[in-house]
Amino acid sequence: RKGKTPEEVVKKYLQKVKSPPEEDCTICMEPLGGPSGYKGPGVTPVSRAESVGRLAQCGHQYHFQCLVAMYNNGNKDGSLQCPTCKTIYGVKTGNQPAGKMEYHIIPHSLPGHPDCKSIRIIYNIPPGLQGPEHPNPGKPFTARGFPRHCYLPDSEKGRKVLKLLLVAWDRRLIFSIGTSSTTGESDTVIWNEVHHKTEFGSNLTGHGFPDPGHLNNVLEELRAQGITEDDGLME
Ligand code: APR
Ligand code: ZN
Repeated sequence: RKGKTPEEVVKKYLQKVKSPPEEDCTICMEPLGGPSGYKGPGVTPVSRAESVGRLAQCGHQYHFQCLVAMYNNGNKDGSLQCPTCKTIYGVKTGNQPAGKMEYHIIPHSLPGHPDCKSIRIIYNIPPGLQGPEHPNPGKPFTARGFPRHCYLPDSEKGRKVLKLLLVAWDRRLIFSIGTSSTTGESDTVIWNEVHHKTEFGSNLTGHGFPDPGHLNNVLEELRAQGITEDDGLME
């Protein structure tokens, strides 16, 4: 399958704008009525008629070239996220390194979920070399604290969250490579933007139970990554 060019990807999500509003493009801070603030190699010229576009779903408007520049700065997976409202166009993927996700039921209840057993998820990611999609391509990365064990109640909602976490894993969105805010170490595997509970029977770290809002928070965080309850249905 031949890949689309960045221009083709961006165009797919845009509607035409005949007369740009008298506002600034919030990517480059230059007026939408004038040229994009992006210059230099890799910025291909556009006709005046195509210089501004409206994102089809959320309606936010930007210079076409600014959106292309933003896309090129990301991991170029065919998806685009509106920088204003975070609406996702296409399927967002991340740069989680290779590894394994497993889960099983354990016959114990979590604090706050006395009526059900629990799900234990085990993530295992070995250290390795960073790829082109990582902050320092070619440089090694470390992986601390693996296997990492995480817990969910084995309730209807807990199982729903598990299904969506499996989707997030496939889309490489559970972990990333960067600087750990806990240890300060750089070029290491870190949790991405979806919170996990890593403590079973206690809550010494703040990443344990009980936490009545946890499952709803995770569903919200998954939604921000473009993963919704519809994704759990496709298996
Ligand atoms: N358990 C679950 N989530 C955590 C933990 C933890 N022990 N520590 C931090 N987080 C959450 C943070 O709240 C933040 O949202 O992960 C996110 C990223 O934090 P970092 O410290 O940058 O992530 P990382 O270095 O991957 O995690 C630190 O988590 O699972 C443990 O073994 C791991 O000790 C390590 C710790
Ligand atoms: Zn712009």
